[in-house]
Amino acid sequence: MTDTATLTFPDGQTIQLPVVVGTENEHAVDISRLRADTGYITLDDSYTNTGSCESAITFIDGEKGILRYRGYPIEEIAAHCSFIETAQLLIWGELPTPEQRGRFTSLLTENSSLPEDFRRHFAGFPAHAHPMSILSAMINALQSYDLPGLVIDDDDEFERVAAALISKVRTIAAAAYKSSIGEPITYPRYDLRYVENFLHMMFSRPYRDYVPSAEATSALNLFLLLHADHEQNCSTSTVRMVASGQANMYASIAAGVCALWGPLHGGANQAVMEMLTMIRDSGMSTADYLAKVKDRTAGIRLMGFGHRVYKTFDPRAKIMKELCHKLLDKPGMSDPMFDIAMRLEEAALSDDYFLSRNLYPNVDFYSGLILKAAGIPFNMFTVLFAIGRTPGWLANWREMRHDPGGRIARPRQIYIGPSMRNYVPMDKREGSSVVRATSKSGRILPVADAAGAPQPAKFTETTHSARLVPMPPAGGSTEGAEPYIS
Ligand code: ACO
Repeated sequence: MTDTATLTFPDGQTIQLPVVVGTENEHAVDISRLRADTGYITLDDSYTNTGSCESAITFIDGEKGILRYRGYPIEEIAAHCSFIETAQLLIWGELPTPEQRGRFTSLLTENSSLPEDFRRHFAGFPAHAHPMSILSAMINALQSYDLPGLVIDDDDEFERVAAALISKVRTIAAAAYKSSIGEPITYPRYDLRYVENFLHMMFSRPYRDYVPSAEATSALNLFLLLHADHEQNCSTSTVRMVASGQANMYASIAAGVCALWGPLHGGANQAVMEMLTMIRDSGMSTADYLAKVKDRTAGIRLMGFGHRVYKTFDPRAKIMKELCHKLLDKPGMSDPMFDIAMRLEEAALSDDYFLSRNLYPNVDFYSGLILKAAGIPFNMFTVLFAIGRTPGWLANWREMRHDPGGRIARPRQIYIGPSMRNYVPMDKREGSSVVRATSKSGRILPVADAAGAPQPAKFTETTHSARLVPMPPAGGSTEGAEPYIS
C-alpha cells in the first residue's frame, strides 16, 4: 500500500498526498493533484525542496558526500573509466560493450570537424568575446547545419546527434580559443582520442604539433568525467526546461551552456582562480580574505565553497585535491595558488562561520589548478566544464523525451504586484515613486533605490566572483595559457 501524507488547510480541509520513495529510500510528497483538488499551489523559492522529476541517471546524498552515476560510485568511475565511457554510461544507462564503445568512437571521430562555412562564424566575434558566449552561440548555430537534429526520437539518430554534439562541442571550444588569440583554427585529427584531440586543437600551431603528455591527458580526462553529470542542478534543469517545450537538442544544450556560465554555478571555477590570483598578487593574507567574506558588507564569498546539496563534503573536490597533490607536489611543479587554496580551506574548515553553515570546498575549488597546470587559460575553465557536462545534459534530454507522461515544464507563481488599476495618461502621472514589493511569506525581496534602479548584485558579470577580484583582461585572463604538464 502507498504511504500518504496528510495536509490540513486553514479552513480545516484535509487532503491525502501520496508519498513517493526512490531507490535509495528518498522520500517525496507527490503534490501533482494539489491544485486541481484544492486550488492551492506550493511556494518553494529556488526549488530547495522541490523534486522536478524522477530520474534514473545520477544519485547524490549530500549529507553523506555520495555521488553515483547510474549506480556506480564516482570514485570507481574516476579510477577506471574514460570520459567517453562515462558519457555512454550516463546516456544509455550501462557501461558500453567493446562493440558499443568502438561504434561510438567512430561516430565521435566522424563528427569531430566543423562544416567549412560554419568555421567562418568565429571571425564574426570580437577578440575580447568570452568563449562561453561563443560556445553557446555556435552550438545553437550548429543546428542550422543539422536539420534532422530538430526532432530526435529514434535511438540511432539520437546516438548520431549525441556523438556530434559531444565531439563538436570540443572542436568549437578549441576554435573559440584559437580565434580569441588570433591563431588559425586547428583541424581535429582522426588518429587522436577525445582528450588528446582537444589538446591538439588547443595548442598545435600550423608550424608545430603539440604532443600532450600522458599526465595532462589523464588529468583532463578525470576533470571531464567528474563534471559529466550532477542531477538537477541549475544548467541541467535549464536543459530539461527548454527540452520540455520540445526544443531541439542543440537549442537545449546551448541553453545549458548559458545557465552554466554564472559564477554561482559553473563559472565558479574561473572565479576561484581570479580570487586566488587576487590574493597572491595583492599579498593579502588568507585570514584577511576570510575576514572580508565573513564581514559580508563587502558582498564577497569564498568562491568554490558551499553547495546546495552537499552538506559535508563534495566527493569530486576530494578527488580533485588528490590530483592537485599528485601533479603539483613534484619538484618544479609547485604552484603558489595551490598553497593559498589549501591555507584557505584549512582556515575555513576551522572557522565557525563556515562550519555552522556547512560550507565545504566544492568541485570548483581545486579544479582550476588542474586546468591551469594543463595550460588551459582561465577564461576557458567554464568552457571545459561545459564540455564535461554535455553527456549529462544529453542523458537528461533523452530521459525527458522518453518519459511517457512528460509535459511542458511550467511553474506557477504567487503574484505580489499591484491589484487591478486603470491606465494613467502621461500628463497625469506624478513623479517617480519607488515600488516596493512586500513578500507575504516574509522573504526579503530586491528593493529598488530612490531612482528605481535595482541594488547592485552581490556578484558582477565582469569579476565573476567578487568586487575584490580585479577585472580580467577582455574575454578573461589568459594566465596559464602555456601548458606545463607536458
Ligand atoms: N562564502 C561565504 N558564505 C557563503 C558561501 C560562500 N561561498 N556560500 C554560502 N554562504 C553563506 C550564505 O551567505 C548564507 O549565509 P546566511 O544563512 O547567514 O545568510 C548561507 O551560507 C547559505 O547560503 P545560500 O546562498 O543560501 O546557499 P545556496 O544553497 O543558495 O547556495 C552556492 C549554494 C550558490 C553554491 C553558494 O554556496 C555559493 O555562492 N558558493 C560560492 C560559489 C560557488 O562555489 N559555486 C559553485 C557551486 S558548485 C557548482 O555549481 C558546480
